[in-house]
Amino acid sequence: MILLEHHTIDRRGALRHVAGGIACVALPVQARAAGGEARHTVPFGSAVQIPWLVDNPEYRAAIVRHCSIVVPEGGLKWLDMRPDPKSYWFGLGDKLVDFGARHDMQVRGHTLVWHGAMPQWAKELGSAAEATHALSDHISKVVGRYAGRIASWDVINEPLPEDQQTPNERRASIWYRLLGEDYIPFALKLANAADPRAELVINEYDLEFVGGRFERKRAGMLDLLEKVRKSGAPLHALGLQAHLRGERDIDRPGLARFIREVHGLGLEIVVTELDVMDYSLPGDVAERDTAVAARAAALLDVVFENCTPRAVLTWGLSDRHVWVPDYFKRPDKLPNRPLPLDENYAAKPFQRVLERFGAKVRN
Ligand code: G3I
Repeated sequence: MILLEHHTIDRRGALRHVAGGIACVALPVQARAAGGEARHTVPFGSAVQIPWLVDNPEYRAAIVRHCSIVVPEGGLKWLDMRPDPKSYWFGLGDKLVDFGARHDMQVRGHTLVWHGAMPQWAKELGSAAEATHALSDHISKVVGRYAGRIASWDVINEPLPEDQQTPNERRASIWYRLLGEDYIPFALKLANAADPRAELVINEYDLEFVGGRFERKRAGMLDLLEKVRKSGAPLHALGLQAHLRGERDIDRPGLARFIREVHGLGLEIVVTELDVMDYSLPGDVAERDTAVAARAAALLDVVFENCTPRAVLTWGLSDRHVWVPDYFKRPDKLPNRPLPLDENYAAKPFQRVLERFGAKVRN
């Protein structure tokens, strides 16, 4: 393992691939100074809704204040950009990239290859040749357009099945059905050709918890990462989505081992979509906020004890704007509180946890 000299990575350079270096830095104990304070500068940020950035000054101000890195919650997904096989709509992506440049923020791209948020025509691709053409046209055009401006891409999103049985199983997306597992190295090579400086990430959920299902998913991910490595395709990091749950414990030893194994393959870690589903937690706000913060802290403890992640992003910033109730409504109908800031953009205990690991208010 090569220890890179990026104890303090400056914000601009933080997501650049370090030439010749092995991606993740294994600094088990040094990663945090005495008293639990982060010694390393890791970019902290959030997923954003681009239309709100444009229309809602309060929302925009909160993002500018708290984020040194942003990723679009939507806007760069196929459903948002690809009305038909020939057309591209870059409106939202362009707005976000301009916003990032104006505010000296890094931008992550999400996502190039996924089973979700697909337009009907893409779900109906009928042959390997059609899938090959669609993927190569999409990745070349999208990554090419933002070359040098989007520093890191979730090239492959959620390649594993919901309930992994054997390590070699993959999610039966249209890409897998038409191209087999080769779609993964193929997409990574395309992204690298379109922007050789971009950090390339495979992003996945449910890798963090205690239980057989999650152990099997970690085994599936390691199997996949090893195969990508053997293929010679460029890959720099694994994205831990970290959509945590009030009712699920973090598998501290299991996750620590997994992170070390990922390092062993020369890959870094990015925490890409951190939040805490609170539907099973008590209604009392103080109690709930404490439990949410504790769950986030448990995850970040393991991550920072075993590496310096390239970035930490939450999937949204304030409880005023959350995707969570679409899937995880509370039985008592109280509003969900999965994020670092409350509905009035005030810091919750979750935000204090992020600060303990190095998140800063920017201005
Ligand atoms: O844009 C339309 C709008 O025109 C319409 O009026 C409205 C009515 O429902 O829907 C809008 O689209 C919604 C879109 O978000 C934009 O807000 C879709 O219905 C909705 O399905 C879509 O949900 C997003 C989902 O991914 C699917 O793309 C969520 O906001 C987003 O948080 C979620 O993000 C995923 C990550 O990409 C991958 N990991 C899990 C994560 C959470 O599910």
